[in-house]
Amino acid sequence: MMQKLPPLDYPYNALEPYIDAQTMEIHHAKHHQTYIDKLNDALENHPNLKEMPLEEMLKNLEEVPEDIRTSVRNNGGGHFSHSLFWEIMAPNAKSVSGKLKEDIEKKWGTVEKFKEEFTEAAVSRFASGWAWLSIDKSGELQISSTPNHDTPLMEEMIPIMVIDVWEHAYYLKYQNRRPEFIKNWLDNVACGDKIGEIYLSKINT
Ligand SMILES: [Fe+2]
Repeated sequence: MMQKLPPLDYPYNALEPYIDAQTMEIHHAKHHQTYIDKLNDALENHPNLKEMPLEEMLKNLEEVPEDIRTSVRNNGGGHFSHSLFWEIMAPNAKSVSGKLKEDIEKKWGTVEKFKEEFTEAAVSRFASGWAWLSIDKSGELQISSTPNHDTPLMEEMIPIMVIDVWEHAYYLKYQNRRPEFIKNWLDNVACGDKIGEIYLSKINT
């Protein structure tokens, strides 16, 4: 099965003014597409792996043949992470509600406190990487960050929310102002309804 670029369910300019259309287009049609092309190249001569779902590959990297392991980790990780990133964004995004809000408040006290900790993880990620909200093995919510294209799947966690803090995600509009990008993203673009739906689907399986 060839991996394919997932279409966005909103146009490239839908997240203006928080993420500009040019950044969205280059990020989706160029950067993400390149990771997919490289992943497909790596899997080309491994027909048994091509049938394995991407998440399974990333959870069990030690089962991926050594000659393509780094490529799968980087390009497969990039494909997985970007796909979730596009999925959880929306114009006019509302904050979290329902069960996810309740569980965030159980863990962090308030949604504001959760946002502070998530922001800290995203701001302090050195160089290129990601900040995540995931469900850990015991079913608890956890904030983490990863370098490069590593994912919490490698730590046996189930990611439900992610922000890309590679410079290509924000540099055209924000230059070196990563904290401003993260604040705008959390307050206006990260869609509580979509993240909540993913959360419910993951805790009910
Ligand atoms: Fe990216």
